[in-house]
Amino acid sequence: MLIRTRRGWEIPERLVVPEELVMSRRRLLKGAGALALAGAVAACDNSNETQNSAAPARQTAESDPTASLYPFKHNAAYTVDRAITPESIVASYNNYYEFGVEKDDPVHNAGRLPIRPWEISFEGMVEKPFKTDFDTLIKAMPLEERVYRHRCVEAWSFVAPWSGFAMKALMDYAKPVSGAKYVVMKSWLNTDVAPAQNMVWVPWPYTEGLTLEEANNELAFMVTGAYAKPLPKQNGAPLRLVTPWKYGFKSTKGIPRFIFTDERPKTYWMALGPDEYGFWANVNPAVPHPRWSQSSEEVLGTGERVPTQLYNGYGAQVASLYSNLKDERLYM
Ligand code: MTE
Repeated sequence: MLIRTRRGWEIPERLVVPEELVMSRRRLLKGAGALALAGAVAACDNSNETQNSAAPARQTAESDPTASLYPFKHNAAYTVDRAITPESIVASYNNYYEFGVEKDDPVHNAGRLPIRPWEISFEGMVEKPFKTDFDTLIKAMPLEERVYRHRCVEAWSFVAPWSGFAMKALMDYAKPVSGAKYVVMKSWLNTDVAPAQNMVWVPWPYTEGLTLEEANNELAFMVTGAYAKPLPKQNGAPLRLVTPWKYGFKSTKGIPRFIFTDERPKTYWMALGPDEYGFWANVNPAVPHPRWSQSSEEVLGTGERVPTQLYNGYGAQVASLYSNLKDERLYM
């Protein structure tokens, strides 16, 4: 039996895929060098194996027509009271399960993802569904740089300077109709570059969603770059979401589809572990994950453990979004 022993923070037994499937898929993945299969559906491997401080391979687009747009103008309204985490750590300690389950799999494997051309579609409850190209879209957006905290549900955190544009600008561009309540972000599907996506029991593509009220909140940010350069592929190039008051799994990477709907979407982690992951996923130190505490976090690269803050320290901007939703599972 090749399924590795499950550690305390990994998925419950009932979510482990049947051995038969594991074995056949494992062979498939082996060819692509991605092996840690049984954990491929685990959100939460918080082992500290790879806080690699070596310079990361920069997995950016082969030829990036947006490179000359950087650096974007820094917006001083969005800074934090912690040191910025070294770029080498943020670009090499990643979660991107399409490319494997270990923290250093994405930096090694994401280079395979073709990101030019990158078509983006706006679908569902919009005035008129349409498609555009990433390089066209970015030129139509109000570009800026913001420094945000990032808090993973696995109880580690970092601080990064993200380049991008307010998600509200994208919502205005998409023109949802008045009955639309949610925006769903679907990542890409490409089994040639991500053999893990052959695992049919995993709900690919990676899917997340926000209410339109959340998407229009000033903090919701569409990210195209980091550290004043185009985003490395392992961090979600060419386009990802960042919602700093929520656990990091809400921040879909590599987005080609925005779908507007009036139904709350079933997201990737909700589908995999409904007892552990919910739709809202707001950071709250007082509400433990069913298998570990959320009261503190390890700040990557420092060896420090610091107390976690409600809404990751962004309560002033977002608490009002949830004042009428007290009966919902807002913090998982
Ligand atoms: N997006 C996709 N498409 N696939 C993923 O596996 N992982 C999420 C999120 N977005 C993920 C994703 C999780 S669990 C986290 S914590 C963040 O990406 C990690 O972002 P980072 O690697 O840039 O720090």
